[in-house]
Amino acid sequence: MVVGVHRPTQLVIDRAALRHNIHAEVERLDQGCALFMVVKANGYGHGAVQVAQAAKDAGATGFCVAILDEALELRAAGFNEPILILGVTSPADAPLMAAEGISATVAATDWLVDAQHYLDLAETLSAPLHVHLGLDTGMGRIGFRTVPELTEAIDFLGDHAALDFEGIFTHFSTADSPDDHYFKQQVAKWHALTDDLPVRPRYVHVSNSATSLWHAACNDNMVRFGVSGYGLNPSGTAIKPPYPLQPALSLTSELVFSKHISAGDSVGYGATYTASQDEWVGTVPIGYADGYERRLQGFHVLVDGQACEIIGRVCMDQIMVRLPHDYSRGTTVTLVGQDHGAEITLQDVADYCDTIHYEIACGFTGRLPRQYRN
Ligand SMILES: Cc1ncc(COP(=O)(O)O)c(C=O)c1O
Repeated sequence: MVVGVHRPTQLVIDRAALRHNIHAEVERLDQGCALFMVVKANGYGHGAVQVAQAAKDAGATGFCVAILDEALELRAAGFNEPILILGVTSPADAPLMAAEGISATVAATDWLVDAQHYLDLAETLSAPLHVHLGLDTGMGRIGFRTVPELTEAIDFLGDHAALDFEGIFTHFSTADSPDDHYFKQQVAKWHALTDDLPVRPRYVHVSNSATSLWHAACNDNMVRFGVSGYGLNPSGTAIKPPYPLQPALSLTSELVFSKHISAGDSVGYGATYTASQDEWVGTVPIGYADGYERRLQGFHVLVDGQACEIIGRVCMDQIMVRLPHDYSRGTTVTLVGQDHGAEITLQDVADYCDTIHYEIACGFTGRLPRQYRN
């Protein structure tokens, strides 16, 4: 996708905020507990390579991604730290992952059997494939669910030198909720599955941001820190974080056009907005092709710090906003971030869209340039 560098609309990512959040968490961890920064989905829309560098500078010692291509992007950028792929990969890629020192999540023994087959076929193997066994303690997504299944996988790993049992983990589905009932059930299941492990691998991990922030006693010796590294509260607003999180992402643009319309004039596709009085209307070059959702009609942006309603439907590339008075072309428009003491957070945008800030951040498309500060 082409990047819109000749358009005034951009994501601004504050590296100092990333470092602040990640360093604050590194400082809270017990000694010997590693922080792996989760940079999947292009670093939750913030730019994977730039976030990885900021995370490394702040004390992260590894990375988590969702797919092999994201791991290869980090290797190509020169990162030599451990990288764990959290999703299920193809066993045919086992030799490539072994060669690149990229760790695979394994959710079933037949995957190990198939991977071993491909490793046998590889002409030379300079290193074993590092494997983290994923346990399903209640997330219901991927992973081993019973002790016999898990024992079979561990036995298979023990019998095959090309496979290195590097880690074991689970993922909690409600660690961001004030109600810890289901969380406790998952913890109990985790203990039932792992308390009598015949071998303890190097990394034992259960914590996403929410678990590390609010249930740190569970952490063991590694955390997979994602959304809070970006300065976002995993609970939305339900639980207060133990330290102030600094949102790293802003989205800004400029007015490219303004006009005066009369009572009765309509604006946008479907003519869904009709002015009830004479008013000023500005146009901002951003739309749903940038990940600025169509559902945001009726929400607001900051024009020179003033909240202005989005009127008419969000178009593919442009939105129209009602202005309190005329503003000159080039006036700053803030869609996410602060201006003159006013603020629109990703949480505000997500609330309006009836979703979570994760989805809004990941949804910003490659057409938006990412500018890095600090
Ligand atoms: C297995 C796993 N671990 C960790 C994370 C990071 O979660 P968070 O961004 O809430 O910290 C994710 C994110 O989806 C995940 O799927």
